[in-house]
Amino acid sequence: MKERIETIVVTGGCGFIGSNFIHMCLRERDYEIINLDALTYAGNPENLKECESDSRYTFVKGRIENADLVNSLLKDADAVVHFAAESHVDRSIEEQQPFVVTNVLGTQVLLSSALHSPRLKRFVHVSTDEVYGSLRPGEPAFKEGDHLRPNSPYSASKASSDLLCRAFFKTYGLPVVITRCSNNYGPYQFPEKLIPLMFINALSERPLPVYGDGTNVRDWIYVEDHCTGVLAALEKGAPGEIYNFGGECELSNLEVVKTILELLDKPEDLITFVKDRPGHDFRYAMDITKAKNELQWQPEWDFKKGIAATIEWYQANREWWERILSGDYRNYYQRRYGTL
Ligand code: NAD
Ligand code: DAU
Repeated sequence: MKERIETIVVTGGCGFIGSNFIHMCLRERDYEIINLDALTYAGNPENLKECESDSRYTFVKGRIENADLVNSLLKDADAVVHFAAESHVDRSIEEQQPFVVTNVLGTQVLLSSALHSPRLKRFVHVSTDEVYGSLRPGEPAFKEGDHLRPNSPYSASKASSDLLCRAFFKTYGLPVVITRCSNNYGPYQFPEKLIPLMFINALSERPLPVYGDGTNVRDWIYVEDHCTGVLAALEKGAPGEIYNFGGECELSNLEVVKTILELLDKPEDLITFVKDRPGHDFRYAMDITKAKNELQWQPEWDFKKGIAATIEWYQANREWWERILSGDYRNYYQRRYGTL
């Protein structure tokens, strides 16, 4: 991109991927970052406490559906990097509306506001492989041109937001870039997601609840690799384009869980097969040829190195997740998985 980017509004920067992205930007670039985050159950300002003293970083607590607030923040922005979302599939199965409100309505408010943002050069919409639906064994990995076939309320809301982004590019020429990534893991991931949940349960020798028979496959990517991809999409992505990111690392849930147990030296009989997730997508896999060729991006972390670094982080940051477990999340955890 020729025009210079100075100020970026990041949405959802207090969540898992957003906070890793902000750390990376402040470490490796000179952008001014305005982080707009509602601090839902998944947003944690502690993730960015080291950034608070950085004069290039500003935190604004608020919701992306608040048009007045969004207008005031976007008026001087050069770019938006949009992470904010309700992100957990299981929660979307229990209650759909928050997913539509944040992921669909919130994205529309941001896009509409961006139309009136005179300096805006890029709007990066961070989406997911789940919009493509589910693969059977042996089927080719998802490509950017594939049809959208979302199966959960979460993925349907993300697919809807992707379509709004497409419409704003086609109708108004808004310089939107969509990224779609596979399953992330790494520091600051909320412990409702597979890897941190299994780590925490294994550490205290509680049962590890594996849905169905554990053969479902995900394509795992270390969060830092996703963040370098989003940065590349911001700086090199062409308006109107979609870029897939993935770790080229397909593993069954059982393989992931057994690796965690092995690294923690815990017995496999902690694995407990529980009722399957309704509509559970069988397999995700991403074809990342386009991002390799057009963004000169590729994942750098293999699973062995990434999972070891992740486990090391959760071991070194016990207070971070213990505080989450003793807060409101405790009720959700106990309802799903039993007494803590
Ligand atoms: P997360 O749940 O950890 O964080 C979401 C953040 O958004 C939180 O800080 C939350 O407070 C904030 N937020 C939620 N609703 C908001 C609202 N209405 N207004 C302002 N802020 C709000 O999510 P994550 O795992 O970091 O995912 C970030 C993005 O990446 C999401 O858009 C998700 O769909 C996408 N994604 C995630 C993965 C993954 O494996 N986690 C993979 C591909 C894409
Ligand atoms: O693929 C990208 C998506 O990855 C993102 O868009 C989502 O925001 C993110 O939450 C993640 O979705 P998944 O549903 O794949 O992630 P989750 O960690 O919830 O589950 C991963 C796999 O593990 C899935 O097959 C379900 C299974 N699982 C999950 C939990 C929480 C279990 O077997 N037991 C569990 O307790």
